[in-house]
Amino acid sequence: MADIETLGTDVLSAIAAVEDLGTLDEIRIAELGKKGRISGLMKQLGGMTPDQRQEMGPRLNALKTEVSKAIERRKMALEEAALDARLANERTDLSLPPLPEPVGALHPVMQVFEELAAIFGDMGFSVAEGPDIEDDWHNFTALNFPEGHPARETHDTFFFHPQLGDTPKVLRTHTSPVQIRTMMAQTPPIRIIAPGRVYRNDWDATHTPMFHQIEGLVIEKGVHMGHLKGCLIDFVKAFFEIDDVEARFRPHFFPFTEPSAEMDVKFTRKGDSIQVGSGDSWMEILGSGMVHPNVLRNCGIDPNEYQGFAFGLGVDRLAMLKYGMPDLRPYFEADAVWTRHYGFKPWTTPSVSGGLSE
Ligand code: DAH
Repeated sequence: MADIETLGTDVLSAIAAVEDLGTLDEIRIAELGKKGRISGLMKQLGGMTPDQRQEMGPRLNALKTEVSKAIERRKMALEEAALDARLANERTDLSLPPLPEPVGALHPVMQVFEELAAIFGDMGFSVAEGPDIEDDWHNFTALNFPEGHPARETHDTFFFHPQLGDTPKVLRTHTSPVQIRTMMAQTPPIRIIAPGRVYRNDWDATHTPMFHQIEGLVIEKGVHMGHLKGCLIDFVKAFFEIDDVEARFRPHFFPFTEPSAEMDVKFTRKGDSIQVGSGDSWMEILGSGMVHPNVLRNCGIDPNEYQGFAFGLGVDRLAMLKYGMPDLRPYFEADAVWTRHYGFKPWTTPSVSGGLSE
């Protein structure tokens, strides 16, 4: 009986160390159950003298109460911990937003590039590329711009600082140098389009210092102006998704083509938008011509054997015409609201048979 205190301390520390409800109940049964240790001690009270009973009775009762309270407290703590663990596991965070709408959209310029690739791809053209930083020879000289010719100035060229003894590099002012690179690298027959960025020092509602062009080049034996016209009229019909187009080829000058022509199409203004194909006004949409014999010669191609035609057009303006954007500047402002409004689903691929702009 002397070690009631020791017994109490042992039991209480065992209770405090228990980590699960099962073991806690085992302790309860072992101490307070019918055949438990503390219950056994209580039973011994009956065989004691009144004096002993008076002393031991309250001590054992106190021990019994303390142990049952400790068990009760530990039980609550373990149940609470179990509930917390379950709640943490099963938590549904209702503060999360619903799955977001996809915010990305394909820029109309990229959409039009893809449409152009689909249309010309269908006509047997492949896509060629060249660098944005060009040398003077590819951007001007090989394209038959004579040294000191005023045509060089009309391009408002961005020049780099010249390296020692070198002519300065330029940011290409048009995609036409890709014609030169392609003819230098491939042997005819050639049918390519070259989409890309071009740069001129110009800035207002319809001009930005960086804009987009697409170049076309066909080099084959016996190619003539009729092929050029047929190809470009087919292109306009496919691009504007119309069955017929009234077009005219107006004489013009480009150093790299002879003869050269600008292509105009008829259009009607309907409110804010423009319908291409028929109407009472002409609109210029591209430059074109038969590749100049000097250009062929500069690339090692014999003009008596091969002929070709070329064309170049501004993609930003083409996108404006087809999709009704009134101003060019927002193209380059990365405004998400504008892009969402005028942009396209990024996962659809335009095709001539499946539809260009759905
Ligand atoms: N390179 C011309 C420009 O930027 C566009 C052009 C006109 C390209 C006639 C051509 C062409 O290939 O034949 O203004």
